[in-house]
Amino acid sequence: MDLSIVGVGHVGLVTAAVFADLGHRVVGLDDDRDKLDTLLAGDVPFHEPGLPELLERVVADGSLTFTDDLSVAVDHGEVIFVCVGTPPLPGGGPDLRFVERVGREVARHATRETVLVEKSTVPANTGVRLTQVIAHELEVRRADATAADPDDVHVHVASNPEFLREGVAVKDTAEPDRIVYGTASDYARDKLREVYAPMVERVGCPVVETDVPTAELIKHASNAFLATRLSFINAVANVCDRVGADVELVAKGMGHDARIGHAFLNAGLGYGGSCFPKDVDAFAHLARQVGYDFGLLEEVRDINVGQRQVVLDRLRDELWHLQGKTIAILGAAFKPGTDDLREAPALYLAESLLAEGATVRMYDPVALDGVAEVLPEVERIDDPLEAARGAHAAVIATEWPQIAGLDPSDLKAALDYPIVVDGRNCLDARAAIDAGLHYHGIGRGHLRVR
Ligand code: UDX
Repeated sequence: MDLSIVGVGHVGLVTAAVFADLGHRVVGLDDDRDKLDTLLAGDVPFHEPGLPELLERVVADGSLTFTDDLSVAVDHGEVIFVCVGTPPLPGGGPDLRFVERVGREVARHATRETVLVEKSTVPANTGVRLTQVIAHELEVRRADATAADPDDVHVHVASNPEFLREGVAVKDTAEPDRIVYGTASDYARDKLREVYAPMVERVGCPVVETDVPTAELIKHASNAFLATRLSFINAVANVCDRVGADVELVAKGMGHDARIGHAFLNAGLGYGGSCFPKDVDAFAHLARQVGYDFGLLEEVRDINVGQRQVVLDRLRDELWHLQGKTIAILGAAFKPGTDDLREAPALYLAESLLAEGATVRMYDPVALDGVAEVLPEVERIDDPLEAARGAHAAVIATEWPQIAGLDPSDLKAALDYPIVVDGRNCLDARAAIDAGLHYHGIGRGHLRVR
């Protein structure tokens, strides 16, 4: 099929490459010419394992091309996927200006029956709004006697949320757990069936076909539910700390219940990234707008933010004042496998420590350039033990293998004071204590009971 992807950021680029690899002819549109030049030169502007190789292949065989000309993308795509950014606004809701603009422009330039698919995370009702914008534009076209006859033009709005995780985005997109799309016409539903048919055939994943608002809600509810699990286990961890229990084993014991499962029960510094923090706020905002107070989501967010305080309190307990102390933060990205620093807990920690007068050093295998841009006062060191050398304490903020695999004796030898706050519970706690480290995990209260 001829598909167009509007916005080749993280979601758009991965989606475009995977669709091209499925055998579709894909055009990726972006108005950032520098980004397109980078892509055409064979470089990927962010870290995503497997994507450079896939892109090279589909660009070389011509199944994926790029343009900054909207009319080219609209002419090409019988199905057009909207993957533009929806950044958060100060009130908690997402900024939908870019989504609206795409709807308007597609209606202005479409020359035939087209399916416009929301892939960006948008509030339920965006489909209704887009349909309205498109109807207005088509009316203007019909009223304009000089315009090409728009009577054959029909733009069907659909919603097809993505569930890809950064770091494993290619796999999540090519082999999804499920495919969800919501449509308002048989035409749009049949087109989306056709888009995904080769994937369903290959992977055998379930397909959930719905109306548009239901598909939008599935995305909201999935992310909010996962964030709720994380805040739940973090709250349990805080109780474990106080009663001398081990949250790792609590999670294991819970996870064996088939109704609960093991995934997303790792307690720690809390979630970050471009999705969960924004999506939880956006869902709470949407609920408020439609007259429902979804207070649970406010609590989920507060527990998440509170986890950073747990780490800072541990440091203060051990070091008294942080003024004049040197703290090594091991890991900067919001999770391993990415260089994404959006809402990364490590950055919040660094800012708080700097504000309290500490010197901060950071190690990360891929995200240090980004740290230089947002926090130039942080000392950046490209080896974890060198970052720890001579520091008064180390905080583990991201469970990269290079960090989780550190030998506790080496860490002890490097540090000035042997204090480690493991914000991701990724070190072997017993081995750390045996090596002579003052080891603090999250929810590992059992370690204090000897
Ligand atoms: C998430 C969703 O998983 C994905 O479906 C959606 O489309 C986009 O948002 P992503 O933000 O890439 O993906 O990261 P994910 O792997 O889900 O992790 C989110 C955060 O939760 C990370 O900060 C991670 O460190 C944290 N996390 C995850 C935990 O603290 N504990 C866990 O057990 C799992």
